[in-house]
Amino acid sequence: METITTNKLTYIKDLEAFVGQKVTLKGWLANKRSGKGIAFLILRDGSGFCQCVVTESDVDEESFENAKSLTLESAFEIEGNVVRDEKQMGGFELQATKLRTISIAEEYPIAKKEHGVDFLMDRRHLWLRSRKQWALSKIRNTVIFSIHQFFQERDFVQMDAPIFTGNACEGTTTLFETDFFGDTAYLSQSGQLYGEAMAMAQGLIYTFGPTFRAEKSKTRRHLAEFWMIEPEMAFYDLDMDMDMIEEFIKYVIKSVLDKNKDELEILERDTTSLQKVANTFPRLTYEKAVRIIKGEEDINGKNSITTLEEDLKEVLEKIETTNKDISERETRIEAGGMKKGEVNFNLNKIGKLKAEVKEFESLAENIPQWIESAKNFEFGGDFGGSDETVLTRLFDTPVMVYKWPAAIKAFYMKEDEEDPNFVKGVDLLAPEGFGEIVGGGERETSKELLVKKIKEHDLPMEAFEWYLDLRRFGSVPHAGFGLGLERLVGWICNIHHIRETIPFPRVMGRLLP
Ligand code: 4AD
Ligand code: MG
Repeated sequence: METITTNKLTYIKDLEAFVGQKVTLKGWLANKRSGKGIAFLILRDGSGFCQCVVTESDVDEESFENAKSLTLESAFEIEGNVVRDEKQMGGFELQATKLRTISIAEEYPIAKKEHGVDFLMDRRHLWLRSRKQWALSKIRNTVIFSIHQFFQERDFVQMDAPIFTGNACEGTTTLFETDFFGDTAYLSQSGQLYGEAMAMAQGLIYTFGPTFRAEKSKTRRHLAEFWMIEPEMAFYDLDMDMDMIEEFIKYVIKSVLDKNKDELEILERDTTSLQKVANTFPRLTYEKAVRIIKGEEDINGKNSITTLEEDLKEVLEKIETTNKDISERETRIEAGGMKKGEVNFNLNKIGKLKAEVKEFESLAENIPQWIESAKNFEFGGDFGGSDETVLTRLFDTPVMVYKWPAAIKAFYMKEDEEDPNFVKGVDLLAPEGFGEIVGGGERETSKELLVKKIKEHDLPMEAFEWYLDLRRFGSVPHAGFGLGLERLVGWICNIHHIRETIPFPRVMGRLLP
């Protein structure tokens, strides 16, 4: 195949530097419109999207033929002049002078029309190319990079914990068992215990690795395989831990706001809630949080139950007005006499409004259930998704809940000095219904208490002997936390279901692609 250039690739993201010059781009066809003597191609090259205009009179005959025969997702190489065009996504357009085909794609299964999630998940390997998924992956990458940056700037040592483990960390109900040369091994539920060992060697460490939980429930917040970041800090107590969580989340969100404006726009993300992360995160004890959830105590002048009742009223009103808006537009279209562009505009708008109604309707269905379970919440229990939602709706920043009942938390959590029924754990709950994104706390330092807890949790003592050594030899106060990468990305991108925030999700029933 004849190529136009071979030595150096130019990428769409760098077009700014080439305005008024000739460049060659390589990529895939994301969209095409053609008219007589002209073709508008949307080229995507991984770094961005760019409209390329191929005019019959400006290119050789073969190039124009090539442009005409390109199918969706065909690969091609195009040479042209870069012009500034603020109307275009990215701000530039390429006026083609040559076009060579690299490969012609078969009929592409993902069309522009709406597909169901299962259809798309079955084609995840292709779905990743579409605009929103592309933007999500870019943001996930920024999050990963800024996490490393945050810890590296603070002299934390990154450590890799094993994936095959001989003991449970987060309880025995979500373990994936596997055969390890005849022994039973578990896929890691958390690198924390190994992180604690390394913190006693390095002081400040963080892990960044895959984590496995055999969650049988199919919720929008659970994956069977996800990525967790777990810092562990020697000589840190719970307060210092909470300070670190807050500083960390602020840092990562700011990086995304700084670096990913275009991607957030593609995702139609209203960034108001992300901007508010700059404010102080409220810190509530579990006890106070429960009183707030049950409506027994107001916060910021708001009561959880009456706020929900008001929200419900508002949602019902919105359903009515939106439906009215839809039918008015439909009537106007049916009446005729509208220009084609206007019809399309209205049809598009109606589609969006219908989606809004759907969302409002599910809220109208959910809110009464939230109210019920909030009122009936029993002190001592763990928060369910709806309890987290009820609580976080009262705030516009993430909220920290600390000092949890010992009975519902892991064995390694430090007992509270004032009340042994509580432990020094902390959860960070994200706003907008995204729920727990961080779980952590101060670790138990007493070997005797740990032995007691391991027994109470019915865990095999011999598998924890090595861990107890950390208390035998130079036990010090220490603390840490675990951030669920996908939950954070889900919140940042406002993606309802966590499965879209990881390239190839693993949930019950999904092992391919
Ligand atoms: O709260 P978890 O279970 O805490 C731990 O594993 C501790 N060892 C962390 C530590 O202190 N070093 O999990 C931490 C976070 C959760 O807050 C959540 O964001 C995420 O991991 N997470 C999941 N994300 C996706 N799918 C799942 N099934 C998840 N389970 C937990
Ligand atoms: Mg947790």
